[in-house]
Amino acid sequence: EENHRESLMIVSAYAGKFFQDSLWDTDEGQSIGLSYFRERGFTNETIRKFELGYSPDQWEAFSAQAIKDGYQEQYMVESGLSVKRDNGSLYDRYRGRVMFPIHSMTGRLIAFGGRTLKTDKNVPKYVNSPESEIYHKSNVLYGLNLAKKAIRDEDNCYLVEGYADVISVFQAGIENVVASSGTSLTVEQIRLIGRLTKNITILYDGDAAGIKASLRGLDLILEEGLNVKVVLFPDGHDPDTYVRLLGSSAFKKYIDDNRKDFILYKTSILLKEAGKDPILKAGVIREVVESIAKIPDSIKASIFIKECSSLMQIDERALLTELNKMRQAKH
Ligand code: GTP
Ligand code: MN
Ligand code: MN
Ligand code: MN
Ligand code: MN
Repeated sequence: EENHRESLMIVSAYAGKFFQDSLWDTDEGQSIGLSYFRERGFTNETIRKFELGYSPDQWEAFSAQAIKDGYQEQYMVESGLSVKRDNGSLYDRYRGRVMFPIHSMTGRLIAFGGRTLKTDKNVPKYVNSPESEIYHKSNVLYGLNLAKKAIRDEDNCYLVEGYADVISVFQAGIENVVASSGTSLTVEQIRLIGRLTKNITILYDGDAAGIKASLRGLDLILEEGLNVKVVLFPDGHDPDTYVRLLGSSAFKKYIDDNRKDFILYKTSILLKEAGKDPILKAGVIREVVESIAKIPDSIKASIFIKECSSLMQIDERALLTELNKMRQAKH
């Protein structure tokens, strides 16, 4: 069992090295992969730090080389690096993609995200490793291996949506940043962060999907007893595009100036949706109190009730009654 996991990690590390060599040491890698990363504004140092790579646009470049170097098909297939054809031969999963290796908290390479360079809508933008004995995606946060020290030191963790967001934000000097790439945020991921800090700041995309995801994530984080703040980006931007637009010091200032407490964030988003309709407005109050009811610490919850009461100009006692009803319904 341990040997099995170890074999998967060894072939993954080998692949990571193969993709890095393809990026730096081949004409195709340099002209396609490296220039793509440079266009995204990643420096050489950043590309090395995140161990980014390139998978050649050929059917068997990786698989053939790995076999030649003595790796076993079983582990190549289980880790998702190679795919088996009906006739038993192998081909490469990530042909012609730039490669983002995914590491465990302790820094072992356990999976990949491969991004297409095509703009064709029918091609999936990212292809990720399948679940395996070394990769349970709901337990993994992209970037955590590089971010963990800064998360402790800053006593805060920035949470973004994508690989490129982590890399750009890190490059801008904000190193306490991770992504829940490829899945919506899970309880396991929140607990991983919770061992390092009790404070999470959500930096999701400024589109409808990002806002929806942030509201879902917010409740989960509250339930785990962590504090959560949110920064919203202009529609069409994500942290990666926005940090490139503003530069790193203006970006940091933007974050500091726009960091909203979850109550203010949730209330303003929902109120905007509800418009002037009083019934919808009442629904908003209920939803905000529902979030507050998820906070395990009742003293903290009562402070948020106070805040909500003044924010929405509702009598505090009415909100407390609502809160107690929800708490009882939960138990
Ligand atoms: P870039 O265009 O490279 O900046 O990607 P992004 O991270 O901004 O992409 P987006 O905001 O659309 O998606 C956020 C995250 O969701 C990505 O980083 C991926 O982890 C994941 N994702 C996006 N597209 C796909 C896809 O087609 N398939 C899978 N499996 N995951 C995806
Ligand atoms: Mn096994
Ligand atoms: Mn998005
Ligand atoms: Mn995005
Ligand atoms: Mn992006």
